[in-house]
Amino acid sequence: MAVTQLGYLGFQVTDADTWRRLATEIMGFAVSDEDGVIYLRFDERHHRIALRPGKTDTLDYAGWECADLGAYETAVARASQAGVEVTTGNADECARRKVKGFARFRDPNGFPVEVYHGSLREMRPFVPSRPVSGYKTGALGLGHVVLRCARPELSVRFYCDVLGMRISDTADLPRLSATFLHCNARHHSLALTTSQPGGEGTVSHVMVEACAMEDVGTAYELCQQKGVPIWLSLGQHTNDRVLSFYLRSPSGFGLEYGYGGLEIDEATWRVEHWRSGSFWGHTPAA
Ligand SMILES: [Fe+2]
Repeated sequence: MAVTQLGYLGFQVTDADTWRRLATEIMGFAVSDEDGVIYLRFDERHHRIALRPGKTDTLDYAGWECADLGAYETAVARASQAGVEVTTGNADECARRKVKGFARFRDPNGFPVEVYHGSLREMRPFVPSRPVSGYKTGALGLGHVVLRCARPELSVRFYCDVLGMRISDTADLPRLSATFLHCNARHHSLALTTSQPGGEGTVSHVMVEACAMEDVGTAYELCQQKGVPIWLSLGQHTNDRVLSFYLRSPSGFGLEYGYGGLEIDEATWRVEHWRSGSFWGHTPAA
């Protein structure tokens, strides 16, 4: 049984105030505070991103959803069989993540992974903190996360064999090689890349997908007006066709604000290889 979506991400952050401003003024997320955790909401779920103020900027966990309790138990059993140490979240931790149950382990490159079931559905609709059309999530999950790995090939095998993901395509770019993985119709929910020396074990970026192209343009304009650092200019990716730009989050990793992502039909999809990442744009900021 495979995981069905990237459900949530948790980060420890050193600059909670800048994160708060970014979330509300640029992204249009709804922000709430509970027991020292800053929750960022942008759809029907209680939250998609949780921020924990602390002394370093690190990924606390990436939460992969299982369709039900049975699928969750199968995923946990597979992880155990793969030889990784699996621990189950206690009641307090489940309450913080707003799930019925979860288990945690590390992938072969040391990234913290969680599988869970029973995510909390909010009763009231999402109300954005600035006028945006909203985010394309639902069964596609929150977006995608890209991880820089010392040995990406080990993690590719792990996420496919243990969590049931499938390869979408691969790319050899001037500065990195990447493998893109899907677990639903979103072209990729996870990408595993090589790293420049010293970058291994860090998050490259997180992508969220706006429902309207206008939202990408207005976010780009707002970043320029408010002095939010841009990492990569507006551009369009080759493999998933996403039109996007990347801002630099206060934690150092990128936040890709995208639109128009390709959806995969599993029945007809063919894995291909790319030598370019973007049709146009995505130029690094000076
Ligand atoms: Fe991306």
